[in-house]
Amino acid sequence: MRSRLPRPLLRAVTAACLAVWCAVGGTFAASPPAARGQDGMVVTPEPAATRIGVEVLGDGGNAIDAAVAVALALAVTVPRAGNLGGGGFLLYRSPDGAYAALDLREVAPAALTPEHFLGPDGLPDRRRSREGGLAVGVPGTPRGLEEAHRRWGALPWKRLVRPAIRLAARGFEITPMQADSFAGRLEVLSGNDEARRIFTLDGAALPAGYRLVQPDLAATLRRIARHGAAGFHDGPVAAAIAETVQRHGGVLTRDDLGAYAPVLRTPVEGRYRGHRIVSFPPPSSGGIALLQMLAMLERFDLAESGPGSSRTVHRVAEAGRRAFADRGRWLGDPDHVEVPVDALLDPAYLRTRSESIRDDRATPSDDTGAWAPPTPASTETLHFSIVDADGGAVSMTTTLNSWYGTGIVAEGTGVLLNNEIDDFTLGAGVPDQYGLVGGAANAVAGGKRPVSSMTPTIVEAREGPPGPLLVLGSPGGSTIISTVAEVIVGIIDHDLELQAAVDAPRFHHQWKPDRISHEALAFPEDVRVALERLGHTLAAWPRPQGRVAAILRDGGGGWLGAADPRGWGSAEGFER
Ligand code: DON
Repeated sequence: MRSRLPRPLLRAVTAACLAVWCAVGGTFAASPPAARGQDGMVVTPEPAATRIGVEVLGDGGNAIDAAVAVALALAVTVPRAGNLGGGGFLLYRSPDGAYAALDLREVAPAALTPEHFLGPDGLPDRRRSREGGLAVGVPGTPRGLEEAHRRWGALPWKRLVRPAIRLAARGFEITPMQADSFAGRLEVLSGNDEARRIFTLDGAALPAGYRLVQPDLAATLRRIARHGAAGFHDGPVAAAIAETVQRHGGVLTRDDLGAYAPVLRTPVEGRYRGHRIVSFPPPSSGGIALLQMLAMLERFDLAESGPGSSRTVHRVAEAGRRAFADRGRWLGDPDHVEVPVDALLDPAYLRTRSESIRDDRATPSDDTGAWAPPTPASTETLHFSIVDADGGAVSMTTTLNSWYGTGIVAEGTGVLLNNEIDDFTLGAGVPDQYGLVGGAANAVAGGKRPVSSMTPTIVEAREGPPGPLLVLGSPGGSTIISTVAEVIVGIIDHDLELQAAVDAPRFHHQWKPDRISHEALAFPEDVRVALERLGHTLAAWPRPQGRVAAILRDGGGGWLGAADPRGWGSAEGFER
């Protein structure tokens, strides 16, 4: 029983999906063809930031320089996820082919305990990890970017901060999609005096075309230009952040900010149909889950089952179900708990897991079987991708968690504060805002990093010249992992062009809840019926899933870049 979606129909379904999102508030045209660049490529979720990245490459900067300038610019132009007051993950491939995973994820303040999240009834109170001061993790972005620049950057630091200062001081016009996003979080933003002053018009949503000027943020960025990350993690900005968080009931101190240190980790990697997949290690669950999904899918002929068919969707969803079950059980901050990375990526284990996937029926999540490895060792966001002329590449995802984080701006700094603490597991069976359930490995503890789904990834081709084949990632909470897997499958198995793989409708299975969530109209009627017959429950998202920024090596030399039509991002090639 299989239902196949022919390629022209896939295109029609993609177009129909995009049309529905237009109708429900997003406004975007059909995707332009992928951008081309002979000597480099920058793809980010916002055109001014993309331009800044290309200009840095033009000034002789490398991919890291461009990434630092882009990340700081996005802290100004995409305040819902670009940030100084949050964190992220930066996956780097150096021109000599070495990989590094720089973890600038927020940590829990030293004094934070699980008891802080218990309500008067002794049960976990989910609001406390999402709203107010207790939700705020110690930001890692400024010190992380400084560390990336110190290790691998070439241009002067001030040169990289300057464009962001200019954007904050002179302002930029907000797009219709961005106006929708401000309107969507109006209640949260108007609940905080500073956020209301900066991100609303006296409590009304900022309209499209409004010029958003952020003088306080410009002043904070000037400090960062002058003093480096110390201009944020120490001194008056740190004092303002600690004071604001404490006034909102949190326990974050200046010492927490001063003590923050990014961590350089070894990426996780594996092979998919011979191609080398390099991705982010714990505390992200993304790299492990992505590698697990791809390993479980390798046994199936997805080229034959085709894009968008019920059989392909079923297989990918079943792989996702199993990977997310392991995530919930095993994943935590590797500096606090033992994460059995090798066991989770063990080929024999993943073969057994894959063999439990049946083509004739869905496996209920409650009986995914042994969801512990057989040999256990003892568990709004944005993405941009950059390649430079020397084979350097950056795949970076940054986040405040919810759009605009807590919606709290640290007094006088223009800095929006994250609510990353919600990515911890508050208690058995207590879902986070993405519905994810986890275990003790991801319990709150001072100085600990919450598990993430962010999956910045780089693929190197099985054959041909060394260097990146595909650089990609996405926002979208738990769906990030499925989104990245589906784009990789689209390109490697279904031979889709880059933009078509990015545009294609998306779906997601995360073990619990036991259902395939999908973009509106992602599945034509026959595919829906076939999936339901296999035993799947389907649930349409109210919004699109993810916003990919992807770069693919062009067969004829150079690079192709694709921004996601679900956002207002852009791709720009670089020519020397
Ligand atoms: O780290 C994580 O997994 C989440 N905090 C990511 C949040 C996110 O992607 C929100 N975006 N739409």
